[in-house]
Amino acid sequence: MKSDQKAFHKSRRAGFSELIGKDSVAVIFGNTTRNKSYDEDYKFKQYKNFYYLTGFLEPNSVLVLAPGGIQFPVNGKQKTLTEILFVQKKDALMETWNGKRLGHSDVRRELGIQNSFVNEEIPQILNSRFLRRFSKLYTNFGEMLKLTNDTKRIINNFTETLNIIAPALEISDASYLLGKMRAVKTNYEINKIGEAAEISTGAYNETLKSVRPGINEFSIQAMLEYYYKYHGGDDIAYHPIVASGENACILHYNANNRQMKSGELLLIDSASEYNYYCSDITRTFPVNGKFTNEQRIIYEIVLKANKECIKKIRPGVKFSDLDNLSTKILTEGLFKAGLLKNKKDIKKYSLHGIGHHIGLDTHDAVPFTKTGSTDNDTLKAGNVITIEPGLYFTGNMKEIPVKFRKIGVRIEDDILVTKTGSINLTESMIKEAAEIEIAMKDN
Ligand code: GLY
Ligand code: MN
Ligand code: MN
Repeated sequence: MKSDQKAFHKSRRAGFSELIGKDSVAVIFGNTTRNKSYDEDYKFKQYKNFYYLTGFLEPNSVLVLAPGGIQFPVNGKQKTLTEILFVQKKDALMETWNGKRLGHSDVRRELGIQNSFVNEEIPQILNSRFLRRFSKLYTNFGEMLKLTNDTKRIINNFTETLNIIAPALEISDASYLLGKMRAVKTNYEINKIGEAAEISTGAYNETLKSVRPGINEFSIQAMLEYYYKYHGGDDIAYHPIVASGENACILHYNANNRQMKSGELLLIDSASEYNYYCSDITRTFPVNGKFTNEQRIIYEIVLKANKECIKKIRPGVKFSDLDNLSTKILTEGLFKAGLLKNKKDIKKYSLHGIGHHIGLDTHDAVPFTKTGSTDNDTLKAGNVITIEPGLYFTGNMKEIPVKFRKIGVRIEDDILVTKTGSINLTESMIKEAAEIEIAMKDN
């Protein structure tokens, strides 16, 4: 692992340890493999909170953090340890079939985590005698319940006897505190998201040249993903939406298998991941390279909401205020175009909120609302969010003139909140209607 990455994860462990305090212990489970069918598994994806703290990509691993120290036997002697990574044991046969395992003896050198043992030893920590020494246990319960295979077997006694341990110490899910940390990105993370965004924008600008009537949605998907992979994007950030015509009105359309026709719009919501960090982009293009008048009217309203919201972003602004601003612009735009009789009906056509945080997850697993006296709604420097207003008119909306039906438009950018304002990480991607038409002229 490169030194900047090592330093990043180390700083996350230090930050989280400080948050939980010396009387607590944290047991953070890594993911396990998932069966897809028969003897085939899904591509392994590490749990993101575990990744955040370790950067380690093997299944069946568990991180223990004990900021006040934990007594654990090392070579027959009790030692006081503050961080331990439990990993899969080396196994020549399994490694021949499924790939190399780091093994516990190389953890410190490779990952910079102080101590490591094979995962079969984790029950020594997950028993009541051990846990009763702490006043609080943080773990990732929601994810623990979904574990499979080796880890599930190894921690079986813990899950079976949790009700006996539970009254002795306070047990909390670590996801909330880790989510609060994850909401504010470090420079290391901002660079990764920036890389993911750059790969994605390059792919769109290139793929745009191939959008024309007769092309299938899956061909556009393939071109984007070829570009991501070719340029170092190690995964897609989410299942892509390549939606022509009325498919654009299905928010999570994912069949991506229809031949697009002249006169329709094509909505593409697809993006690359880079080193586990996501970007998230949507653009909407006219299939034949020229917007109809009606498509252009809707496009300009959505674009205005996108641009005005981005302009407003700075620390102290509330995410919910951006949502209200977007709703106001979309409402006024449709009202002026004669498409909205009652302003209250806007949600029927705008459907979703203005955006979300992005990071290790595309919809980043961070708290983002204001509840009671807890405010996770106000933006801070280091937040990275999407701005993605949209308008959708299905073929069934009889109250809308026919020429406006089967139109779905969403325009989505990735915005870093800086100390003084914001930076659009997807700035280099074409967005003005006129520019799109020029770029598609020779398709
Ligand atoms: N790609 C999912 C979203 O835009 O939220
Ligand atoms: Mn999004
Ligand atoms: Mn998206």
